[in-house]
Formats: sequence, C-alpha cells, structure tokens
Amino acid sequence: DDNGKKKDDNGKKDKKEDAAKNDKPNGKVRLQELTALSNIDAKQEDDRTAVWVKTWHLAYEMELRKLQVELMKLQQTMKENGSRILLIFEGRDAAGKGGTIKRFIAHLNPRNTRVVALVKPNETESTQWYFQRYINHLPSAGEMVFFDRSWYNRAMVEPVMGFCTDEQNKRFLKDVPLLEELIVKDGIKLFKFYFSVSRDVQNERFEARKKDILKQYKLSPVDNLAQQYWDQYSLRKFQMLQETNRTIAPWTIVRSDNKKLARLNCMKHVLSQLNYIGKISEEELATDPAIII
Ligand code: ADP
Ligand code: AMP
Ligand code: MLT
Repeated sequence: DDNGKKKDDNGKKDKKEDAAKNDKPNGKVRLQELTALSNIDAKQEDDRTAVWVKTWHLAYEMELRKLQVELMKLQQTMKENGSRILLIFEGRDAAGKGGTIKRFIAHLNPRNTRVVALVKPNETESTQWYFQRYINHLPSAGEMVFFDRSWYNRAMVEPVMGFCTDEQNKRFLKDVPLLEELIVKDGIKLFKFYFSVSRDVQNERFEARKKDILKQYKLSPVDNLAQQYWDQYSLRKFQMLQETNRTIAPWTIVRSDNKKLARLNCMKHVLSQLNYIGKISEEELATDPAIII
C-alpha cells in the first residue's frame, strides 16, 4: 500500500471464510477478526455472513461510542486546564481524513472545536508569508482544532500539481520543522497524521464517489489526477515524511484502507497520548501496530 505493506489477498479470503464458517458470534468477537468482512456485499453472501457483517458494524459502533465518550472527558479536562490541541490530517485524496474528523467531532462541543479546511490561497493570501493564513487558526485555550489538510499542501499537492515552484517546496520543507518547534514549545499539543491509502482502494473510492449522488460533490479536478500522478505523490510523500519528522513533532502514519479501523485507531492514538480526568486503561487505548505506525 502507500507504505509498502505487502498485500495478502489469499490470507484475507481465508479469514473471510473462516469467519463465515464459525457458527455463532460468542460476544467475544474481536474487531481484527472481523476486519476482512467489513467490505463485502451482504447480499451476495449467505445469511450467516450477513450476521457477521452486522456484528462487525455493531462492534465498530460500540467501540466508536466508547472512544467518543473519552473525547468528551478530554474536552471537559481541556476546558478546566485550558490546554490546546492541534491535529493535522494529511494524506492523498480519498484517504479518509474528512470521515475521521467527522467521527472525532460528532459529539464534541462546537464552541471548543474547529475544523479548518482552507481553500486555495486568494490573491491577497498568495502575497503573504506562506504560513500566515494557517497561523490565524491555531487553537486558543481549551480548543481542539482539526486541520483537514494543512500547510503540508506545499509538500505534496502543490509541487505535484504545479501550484508552487520547486524552490518554494524546498524552502517549505526546511521551514516547517522550525515553525512546528515553536508551536510545540509554546505548549500546543500537536498531532500530525498521514492517512495512507493504497492505489487500488483510492481508485475504488473515486469510483464509489462517481456512483453515489451524495459523494459526487467530493470529486474535484485535483482528485481526477491523483491516480495518474500516483508516483509523483509517492516521491513527495517520502520526502515530506523524511524531512519533517522530528522527535518534537513526529508523524503518525494511519493505514486507512479500512476506514473504520483507521478511525478507531487514530482516536485511540490521540487519547493514549493525553492525560485527562476519568481516562480508561492504557490497554483499552492500545493501538493496532498494523494500523498505526
Ligand atoms: P480536497 O482534498 O479537500 O477534496 P482538492 O482535492 O480539490 O480538495 O484539493 C487539494 C488541496 O489542494 C486543497 O487544500 C486545495 O486548497 C489545494 N489547491 C487546489 N488548487 C490549488 C491551487 N491552484 N493553488 C494552491 N492550492 C490549491
Ligand atoms: P530529531 O527530531 O532530532 O529526532 O530528528 C529527526 C531526524 O531529523 C533525524 O534524522 C535528524 O538527523 C534529522 N534532523 C534533525 N534536525 C535537523 C535539522 N535541523 N536539519 C536537518 N535534519 C535534521
Ligand atoms: C479524504 O477522504 O481523505 C478527504 O476527506 C477527502 C479528499 O481529500 O478527497
């Protein structure tokens, strides 16, 4: 996939069959075991499989709810101690950034939660310091801010699509660690997520967007070139991860071919890194090493 993980289609199929053969879900169903079933069309499988699919979704919903409750506790603590959190979501088109952010914010108080998804810079903004328009949106006390794409546009989309010069891209990669160091040293808790989708799954998601009237609107001219420019994006991605990974502001890669596991594990990662009142055990927030790197 995006990170060079080898795909094992046969293994996946075996798991599907094994799971389908098993008679009754015994209440100890583990998400990982059911992962392989998450994408199948229930209509085309026998009833038993359909039950498993439903069980998987139910297990996901329960887990999601549990983590969303943890986020509420976190927000409560943040309100009291005034801490600030910035979460950057990066990744190719259709990697699942937006869907994950949606689950994060589902129940949070909009007063202390913001999603920032900037459009391309306007005429005035293009004359400013590159980071200027992003700085305006950094969190205040008690706030959780989600960047759906970020200044890292200048590391991937912009150079690949020709929206910036190579010179600007090089300078950006040098500057960004300095900026992030300042931000972290000021006390903002910074998370940088790279959502990693494989080429085939990205293509599937684009096709699904074309068919679904609710998703059609997500397709943009930039999306249409994502498959064609796959290798250029890969090159820029490796450069970005290499040049901008610092102990003080590290990247976290989220394998997102399975959207639901990506969402759950991304949330667990955030929660496991923070202290808040009423936190559940570390074991319950342990991330899956096959998803979070
Ligand atoms: P999204 O990923 O939100 O669906 P797009 O795929 O259309 O949006 O675009 C990806 C990113 O590229 C966005 O952050 C957008 O602002 C940026 N972008 C698009 N066109 C330009 C441009 N001409 N110059 C700079 N950035 C651009
Ligand atoms: P660190 O954040 O110190 O753990 O560094 C992470 C990686 O970035 C290591 O490979 C460092 O060698 C590299 N690195 C750290 N600081 C710089 C810098 N100022 N310029 C270039 N590379 C750096
Ligand atoms: C995603 O699914 O990764 C984004 O939210 C949408 C996109 O970039 O196409």
